[in-house]
Amino acid sequence: MSMPFPFDLAWPTSGYLALYLVTLLMHALFMSYVLGGALAVAFVRLHGVRENGPVTRTFIDWLPFALSAAITAGVAPLLFVQILFQREFYTANLLSFHRWMAILPVLIGAFYLLYLLKARPHARRLSAAVASAVALSVIFVAWSWIENHMLSLDSSAWVKQYESGALAYRDPAVFLRLAFWLALALPTAFWLLALQLRFGASGAKPEEAHFATRRLAPVALGFLLVAAALAPFVLRGTWSLSPVDETRLAGADVPYLVLAAVGVLLTLGGWLSSQHLPRLSGLCVVLGSLGLALTWWGVLCARELVRLARLDLDTLTQRHTELATSSGLVVFLVFAVLALAVIAWIFDRVARSLR
Ligand code: HEM
Repeated sequence: MSMPFPFDLAWPTSGYLALYLVTLLMHALFMSYVLGGALAVAFVRLHGVRENGPVTRTFIDWLPFALSAAITAGVAPLLFVQILFQREFYTANLLSFHRWMAILPVLIGAFYLLYLLKARPHARRLSAAVASAVALSVIFVAWSWIENHMLSLDSSAWVKQYESGALAYRDPAVFLRLAFWLALALPTAFWLLALQLRFGASGAKPEEAHFATRRLAPVALGFLLVAAALAPFVLRGTWSLSPVDETRLAGADVPYLVLAAVGVLLTLGGWLSSQHLPRLSGLCVVLGSLGLALTWWGVLCARELVRLARLDLDTLTQRHTELATSSGLVVFLVFAVLALAVIAWIFDRVARSLR
């Protein structure tokens, strides 16, 4: 029986890819919370709602933490993507240099704005403006990552892009991909929020949590279905300037799209069963969370298989084998264990003091 992706590939490519995918999954969850949360708060504020219900209150409280977590959790996959796809990733970075570097001041600005929002949540106009600025900043960052990813895979556009000095990669499918990530981020953020409310985050009372979960469910389900419908086309770049060559892909992504679809069904089950209960039961929590994890894992694996189908795997594997001789593995493992131990210690301290 052949091993599941990425373990079916040669070592050390499979090892780098496994670490890349696991760390990217962590980044994806936090960045979804930031994207979904910022959009939800901006939407509520722009509709003139001034008082903070459990949804806005919890998002406003937790968004600064989530943004720092999204940024921190982005560092690990950033290291692995540079090892895995050095030539492609750096070329795209360099081609859109100033545009690309703009994500740093934008993220710093968004970070401070989130604290401003937290400090002045009741100033109606100010908080509407601040929430919208945060949402736009975060969307700009998502757009930049998407553009970078798509440009990195379209090597035929590199020379023209360099000659024209254009700062943006002009493929309209960038916006479709952005719509896809947003459609997936919103239900992810809402589910994470539903879990937080269930456990009383930001002082949420059980009846508030129940009411909020019921209100969020139809929106989350709608976006989840949109994401499911877009996934195969967006990931394969069907309507982009450089779609993947289907003969090279040979349907390798299909099992992972199916896995993602199973995840979507489980998540739907989690949301729907929560509608009839006074609070999220253990079964709902497991269903929804497992569903979300499977959905993201399926999407990230399919996304990676599509990227590999565009590149020369032999050249990549050879480069990774050379890199693996740099003997950084021991140092990496030591620091990975240290970091995990510190995180576990912090969790333990916080849990104890909360108790
Ligand atoms: C809140 C801010 C951020 C948002 C909304 C965001 C959003 C995204 C999105 C939508 C993608 C998928 C791109 C695609 O496949 O089309 C992505 C990928 C990625 N992000 Fe983030 N991101 C954020 C911040 C960061 C930061 C600060 C880092 C690094 C420190 C980072 C590291 C990565 C990496 C490594 C990838 C994978 C790139 C690739 O495989 O080509 N992200 N991000």
